[in-house]
Amino acid sequence: MDWRAHYREHLVTAERAVAHIESGDRVVVHHACAEPTALIDAMVARAEAYSDVEIVHMVPMGRAPYCAPGLEPHFWLNSVFNGGPTRKAIAEGRGDYTPVFFHQFPQLLRTALPVDVALLNVSVPDGRGYCSLGVGVDYSLAAAQAAKKVIAQINPQMPRTLGDCFINVTDLDAIVEVDAPVIELAPPNVSAVEAAIGRNCASLIRDGDCLQLGIGAIPDAVLRELGSFKDLGIHSEMFSDGVVDLVERGVVNNAKKTLHRGKSVATFLMGTRRLYDFVDDNPTVHMAGVDYVNDPRVIGQNDNLVSINSCVQIDLQGQVVSSSVGLRQISGIGGQADFVRGAAMSRGGRSIIACPSTAQGGRISKIVPFIDQGSAVSTMREDVEYVVTEHGIAHLWGLTLRQRAEALIGIAHPDFRDDLVAEYARRFGS
Ligand code: COA
Repeated sequence: MDWRAHYREHLVTAERAVAHIESGDRVVVHHACAEPTALIDAMVARAEAYSDVEIVHMVPMGRAPYCAPGLEPHFWLNSVFNGGPTRKAIAEGRGDYTPVFFHQFPQLLRTALPVDVALLNVSVPDGRGYCSLGVGVDYSLAAAQAAKKVIAQINPQMPRTLGDCFINVTDLDAIVEVDAPVIELAPPNVSAVEAAIGRNCASLIRDGDCLQLGIGAIPDAVLRELGSFKDLGIHSEMFSDGVVDLVERGVVNNAKKTLHRGKSVATFLMGTRRLYDFVDDNPTVHMAGVDYVNDPRVIGQNDNLVSINSCVQIDLQGQVVSSSVGLRQISGIGGQADFVRGAAMSRGGRSIIACPSTAQGGRISKIVPFIDQGSAVSTMREDVEYVVTEHGIAHLWGLTLRQRAEALIGIAHPDFRDDLVAEYARRFGS
């Protein structure tokens, strides 16, 4: 059937569209800033019509109204990355967390977690009926391909990103026209501590490197230090506005990349309208599923890949905790292990774990003798390479347990070094 006829036949209101969802369904929601808020609101407004609908979602950038108290009989959250609105829901038992490497999440959706319904927020179709998944390709494309039913908001404000990121109108079971802003993430404020971490990380970067940066103030602080670099490339799970500045200044040009030369590669994007306009119809930005972008074997094909990610706690052996505080699941592993391992496979690659030396306003040290009981290790001591704080750089790769402890004490906050030295003496003598 001609895609235009399919479009007309399947065009409905949001209320009619979410009536395709049935009790007991597993519903996978388009990721992060691509969240289809009109469809979510319509689904939650119809809560009484459903029981036991499982919502599978990664970083929630909207309000996540499906996990509000009182909706437990209707919706249950299966999270692979907790954020502000879902942390509390998980802690209070209105959902649960599934540990999975980000690059393997699409495979999970194709096998152990079969998808009944995918809820998407896509660009308007092109002349052949193809809609772009815009700022969220990640697991969302795999969910759409695996789902029994696909419900999509067609949104003229969703940028038409390019790459392996399209779905045809003929694959949509319900179409809702929604002209709504794509969720934005404002650039973070960078503190003096984060600026110092940014300088230390930048000292490990060389002209021609290919970068992966996570979300937040530390990646932004690093990008601000790179103004005088040349020929940098991007192969990153995500990127935000900071990369646009460096492209405009000619610092990021992807000229030295050994995979997708000339293109910045990402699987999702989080930023302001400026970023979304930059990626719209831009052939120098290649978007693809996370099972490709974050596959360590793909990452490793980029020479000189430098990954920079953050953490919650590191023990004196170099075990890195990034997604939990004891048994409290505060986020998820995301692509941290994917990129640490991919960087290790990259010729000339380097992986950096960068964090402030303290947490909670300086009251506790992030470098500790033992990780908290119940915490999950995200980067194993065998995988960890560089650890950076505002006090310096510890290169742990190849060091013994004693040498690691010494190196980490050297970049801990001075207020906590005496305690760490006492623990060192207990373990190793003085
Ligand atoms: N002990 C106790 N609590 C701690 C802590 C510690 N050592 N370190 C952080 N926390 C708490 C903070 O107080 C805060 O709690 P609150 O929100 O209740 O105040 C929470 O944990 C988050 O800490 P914060 O420092 O604000 O986090 P952040 O926004 O800088 O993010 C990570 C840091 C590690 C949580 C984040 O980078 C992450 O989730 N990483 C794992 C995923 C990843 O690396 N992905 C890679 C590509 S995107």
